[in-house]
Amino acid sequence: MPDIRLSQVSRVFGAFKAVDDITTVFAEGTVTCLLGPSGCGKTTLMRMIAGLETPSHGSIKFGDRDVTHLPPGKRDVAMVFQYPVMYRTLSVIENIELPLRRDRALSPAEVRRRADEVLEVLQLSAERHRHIGDLDVGTRQKVAVGRAIARQCDVILFDEPTTNVEVHAKLALIRAFKDFRARLRQTVIYVTHDQTEAMTLADQIALMQSGRISQCAPPHVMYDRPESRFGGWFLGNPGMNFLSPRSREGSMLRFDVLSNAIAVPAGADGELSLGIRPEHVDVLAEPADDAVAARILRSSITIGGQQLLSLLVGEARLKAKIPPCEPPADGKTVFIRCRLEHVVLFNDGLRLPAPVTRAA
Ligand SMILES: Nc1ncnc2c1ncn2[C@@H]1O[C@H](COP(=O)(O)OP(=O)(O)OP(=O)(O)O)[C@@H](O)[C@H]1O
Ligand SMILES: [Mg+2]
Repeated sequence: MPDIRLSQVSRVFGAFKAVDDITTVFAEGTVTCLLGPSGCGKTTLMRMIAGLETPSHGSIKFGDRDVTHLPPGKRDVAMVFQYPVMYRTLSVIENIELPLRRDRALSPAEVRRRADEVLEVLQLSAERHRHIGDLDVGTRQKVAVGRAIARQCDVILFDEPTTNVEVHAKLALIRAFKDFRARLRQTVIYVTHDQTEAMTLADQIALMQSGRISQCAPPHVMYDRPESRFGGWFLGNPGMNFLSPRSREGSMLRFDVLSNAIAVPAGADGELSLGIRPEHVDVLAEPADDAVAARILRSSITIGGQQLLSLLVGEARLKAKIPPCEPPADGKTVFIRCRLEHVVLFNDGLRLPAPVTRAA
């Protein structure tokens, strides 16, 4: 399987840069999720990799093969879209076999073997003779995935394949995707604006913002060590808390949410902010070492049943996510602790690499 190498790839529409000077490598045999808000350029980038869109500038290679100006049919890519084109009057197996039969190099027996394999991996064997028109959206989308993987192309591209699928079918589709990954190791680019999907499926997430990749990293690295405030904000539900310093004296920096001053790190020459995720804020009923008093402004329940607390700490506002419990009363005083290993510092919106430490 080849890797996918993008070199200074841009796509402009009129004066608008939909994709802006991207240079990166998506490693062979891995799943990269392109994640980012609506309009950030995910589909445009994917369409250029597919050959459905030509870059205004830059080059795209699959391994050493320059595909920048090759049509889709010559690239050895398979695609699954949000609204896949299916032959509604044909059966499931016929839909999967049709593109394979066009490949003269494949014997009828091989076509059948591959179709059977994907039906089994995607747990579609019971549906093999049903007509596409009789299936629900989720199952139809599974067939589209099967049709793409059966071609055994070097590269498979997915553009938001679960967006129109109801939530349970979506989970089934994600499970099927993971099952097929365990068996076949094609290089996959998967576009989504759903961070949970990206966290679940990706070997690495390429987080996009305004036509650029702001960070490309494994999901847990992206979550724990976002390189920018944008990454901290975009990932998480809700995203990271950001706090401005209360004061800066010499080599000491104070924040309302920390009981002790921290050392001013190297490179802290711009506008500083502290980042901490809501689930990393410890909330205690009693005073404790390293904890500061906070007032509960509001509490609400998240989808997982956890409590989301809005807190006032000094003059700062902070969100904390705590395990399911009796909702604490608004106005109540609690004590919060932000452990330094979970704290990150941003300088003009970009994370400072040095670990955050207490001032001497
Ligand atoms: N053919 C086109 N002509 C003009 N503008 C375009 C064209 N295709 C895309 N754009 C613009 O480029 C930007 C990026 O679009 P794109 O579809 O790549 O975003 P996206 O990240 O896939 O968004 P979404 O999450 O909504 O699917 C958008 O502002 C869009 O309006
Ligand atoms: Mg899109």
